[in-house]
Amino acid sequence: MIKVAILGYGTVGSGVFQIIKENSNIVNEKSGEEIDIKYVLDLREFPGDPCEDVLVHDYDVILNDPEVEVVIEVMGGLHPAYEFVKSALEAGKSVATSNKELVAKYGAELIDIAISHNRNFLFEAAVGGGIPIIRPINMHITADRIQEIAGIMNGTTNYILTKMEKEGADFDITLKQAQDLGYAERNPEADIEGFDAVRKIAILTSLATEKTVDFEEIYTEGISKITSDDFKYAKAMDMTIKLIACSKMDGKRVTAFVAPMLLKEGHPLYPIQDVTNGIMVRGNMVGDIAFIGSGAGKLPTASAVVSDVVDCIRHLNTSTTIQWKAEKQELEDFSFSKKKFFVRTKAGKDKVRDVFKDVEFVDAGIDGEIGFVTSVMSESDFKAKAGTLGVISRIRLDD
Ligand code: HSE
Repeated sequence: MIKVAILGYGTVGSGVFQIIKENSNIVNEKSGEEIDIKYVLDLREFPGDPCEDVLVHDYDVILNDPEVEVVIEVMGGLHPAYEFVKSALEAGKSVATSNKELVAKYGAELIDIAISHNRNFLFEAAVGGGIPIIRPINMHITADRIQEIAGIMNGTTNYILTKMEKEGADFDITLKQAQDLGYAERNPEADIEGFDAVRKIAILTSLATEKTVDFEEIYTEGISKITSDDFKYAKAMDMTIKLIACSKMDGKRVTAFVAPMLLKEGHPLYPIQDVTNGIMVRGNMVGDIAFIGSGAGKLPTASAVVSDVVDCIRHLNTSTTIQWKAEKQELEDFSFSKKKFFVRTKAGKDKVRDVFKDVEFVDAGIDGEIGFVTSVMSESDFKAKAGTLGVISRIRLDD
């Protein structure tokens, strides 16, 4: 029998508890051991809940219990999650976590501590919720040089953009509806401004490059400025708008960004709707691989966490090979990155042609402005030209 402890009995923690109990036959058989939840740590009380018998309020009870072999950190936030996880690994326990903030900030250090103790620090649920993506990048796509990772990695924003497209509604109203339905947080900034997605692409890019990508150095733009008029133009171009997190690896040159993008019908991420996530990985031998599924939610996320618990138990005294070193991965200056841009302006067509030369105009039937798509140009070149012209808004194209 293997004893485990769950840190945090919120949405994901209670899902982990439920899966280990409800799917006990499956998870016990797959791990080759009976999994026993010895402790649940939470500051709150849960009268009448099945966790009541194993609920503790003091982390030291878990840390100092040598019987606990796997700690499941599903509290979220950086502190005290970091201190709890670090001390658990140093005490010779393996850790499974869903905490993307923790992994993006301290991933390399915690992996290093786990390896030096022949234990594991696993975080499948930190990116893409229930979609297997960490293990495939780390353990399966190992014959390739990963050239690109691009995906819809945030369910909340994809839900909002899908509703805006379908209902022609504006951002603020759609966000309010998403909050009322419990899809979006009361404080939605991390999702809508791209701060959640940027941590996820930083984690995946760190795994692909095996060095540490600092998420704070990645260009990040959210969806709060996208309007119903933008969707009218998207429709006129047979396109849709998605929040894309992307990194490209070209030898030593690595670029990364999070931004709303216009995608053509036929693009692999075009049909990804609502809270679903979709992640594309391009290897130089295997080509393109797509991972699609529930990127958030209690049971999908908990399912990924429990799969890590099974993996920890299968490899109790040996580290599985997560390659991610503390050495910093330098990123290319985003201002050199090149794309086409869709632009809305009140300037006339002659002035647009004067400034941008080769453009395609788009008619969405909106009075008092025109839309156009530029040729491929760098971010810095675009910024200079847009300054001369005066623009209402712009969205990058991924075509
Ligand atoms: N807030 C996140 C999302 C949860 O909407 O995708 C999963 O990380």
